Amino acid sequence: MQKRKFYIGSDHAGYNLKEYVKSNLNKKGYVVEDLGTYDKTSVDYPDFAKKVAIKVSRDKDTSGVLICGTGIGISIAANKVPGIRAALCNDPACAALARKHNDANILVLAGRRYNKRKVDSILKSWLKADFEGGRHLRRVNKIKNIEREFSKKTNNGCQN
Ligand code: RB5
Repeated sequence: MQKRKFYIGSDHAGYNLKEYVKSNLNKKGYVVEDLGTYDKTSVDYPDFAKKVAIKVSRDKDTSGVLICGTGIGISIAANKVPGIRAALCNDPACAALARKHNDANILVLAGRRYNKRKVDSILKSWLKADFEGGRHLRRVNKIKNIEREFSKKTNNGCQN
């Protein structure tokens, strides 16, 4: 079952698309909380990645959408937050697979790369797809193990 609440965020390069995605999700009946940015003034994408990623990691019943110019920087930043699996999806097939295979909890889009028809199709695929579990659960659990392993090392001050 798709989560009903989304946290959404972008930098200035993703602002227009964020507004579009927000209204698209609202029209479909999803609850969307916008964590900024709120205009086209130049900002730094890690700040918005962090805001959205923290909210999604704390509330398992929510998903996220993040947008920067390419989608790359904001994905890298969001994936630093434990529990986050942010997937940059440039086409509908990848959007479906990110949900089915990776149990991705943040959809990442590129603000400067697609037309509205493409965005609609990516969003539709993401919303329709659910995690398939099985062998994919084993792999997602291995991702979680990597997180645990490295958070232990950081906590112990041991780097090797
Ligand atoms: C901002 O100009 C741009 O660098 C940013 O939106 C993003 O594409 C970074 O990965």
